[in-house]
Amino acid sequence: MKLAIIGGGSTYTPELVDGFARLRDRLPISELWLVDPDPERRRLVGGVAKRMFAHAGHPGIIHVTDDLIAGIADADAVMLQLRIGGQRTRQSDETWPHELHCIGQETTGPGGLAKALRTVPVVLDIAEKVRRHARPDAWIVDFTNPVGIVTRALLAAGHRAVGLCNVAIGNQRRFAAQFGVAPDRIRLDHVGLNHLTWELGVHVTGDDGVERDVLGELIGPQLDETARQIGIDARVLSLQHAIPSPYLRYYYAHDAMLDEQLHEPTRAETVMATERALLEKYADETVVTKPAELADRGGAYYSDAAINVLSSVFGDRGDVQVLNVFNRGTLPFLPDDHVIEVPARVTAASIIPDRVVPVPSDLAGLISHVAAYERLALDAAIHGGRDRVTHALLAHPLVGQIDRAARLADLLIAHNADHLWWT
Ligand code: G6P
Ligand code: MN
Repeated sequence: MKLAIIGGGSTYTPELVDGFARLRDRLPISELWLVDPDPERRRLVGGVAKRMFAHAGHPGIIHVTDDLIAGIADADAVMLQLRIGGQRTRQSDETWPHELHCIGQETTGPGGLAKALRTVPVVLDIAEKVRRHARPDAWIVDFTNPVGIVTRALLAAGHRAVGLCNVAIGNQRRFAAQFGVAPDRIRLDHVGLNHLTWELGVHVTGDDGVERDVLGELIGPQLDETARQIGIDARVLSLQHAIPSPYLRYYYAHDAMLDEQLHEPTRAETVMATERALLEKYADETVVTKPAELADRGGAYYSDAAINVLSSVFGDRGDVQVLNVFNRGTLPFLPDDHVIEVPARVTAASIIPDRVVPVPSDLAGLISHVAAYERLALDAAIHGGRDRVTHALLAHPLVGQIDRAARLADLLIAHNADHLWWT
């Protein structure tokens, strides 16, 4: 199969390449095309990727190009992992919201809106080219944040797309370690919107093949360890009788997170330093495997998540994985065409939500609130305009005041003028 990675010059790419090499039996890649506009990244990341395939004895051929059409022509699948403006725009998303006492984060809050506004038009443009040049049944697998909004943009435009995040697969591995079992023995009742999810059940399959729910243990005897791993106050887990995604700390500990952000380097600054170290390694011809520094990035296991979904689509496996898909009535309090992050059954023909447990009303309330913001955010990304941006911010639970929303909108537009088609 031919696979194209848009944003293939990302320092994350060797994570994916490592997964492709490790799990080659599950995903027989004959051609891997790394598409990226940055010549230096193409040289360094492309170089290490080729050495990794050669070292692993992977028979696939890696092509590196800035030509999008060549990259996607006749592709079986196209993966999107691009970042408009690189870490510099992330640094901006993580700082200007501070002026109005809002957290600065690349997916949550005002920074996430800025990222959506920059990203959605570019992704839709790429997807139109995929429609024209890739194979007719090609899938678009989106890791590009904000994944919920970007995936909804793709699905609403009629593309064959699915959104991917590593929070669920990370939890699966975390809980597996807490119980001393293999990750595939853990099944999650994972529900919500991308970066706004909860585990409402955690099931372990025993040696006898029977499942038991161990959520009560994770938030009972193991509560402190679970809370520490997730980075959320243990009281939240106890009160909600659920395990929130680490991103929920920006809601349940907003002021503490803001205070921390004001006194510490931004994540963008930290990542830029990691990236410099990684690129140095990639430049070293003797490096033929994934460098240890990659573990300092947040995207651990995303290669496994990507390979899981691609191998199930191409192998028509019909198994269940946590993915970003259309709601289709699964969460009755959201529109059918909203994108939710839940366990979904993956076959060659479709990826549709599997059974989901009932969502308590306090969680449903926040999910609905953020979903309403996401709809306005997509509207603003597609149609542009200061009023749409202000409206989306007003609807965001972390903004919610008109003065603040209006001033944030001005800041967002001022800081992103180069990347917004309508300014
Ligand atoms: C997690 C999230 C991704 C996000 C990443 C950031 O993996 O699920 O959506 O892109 O963290 O990692 P970074 O190393 O860039 O901070
Ligand atoms: Mn994610």
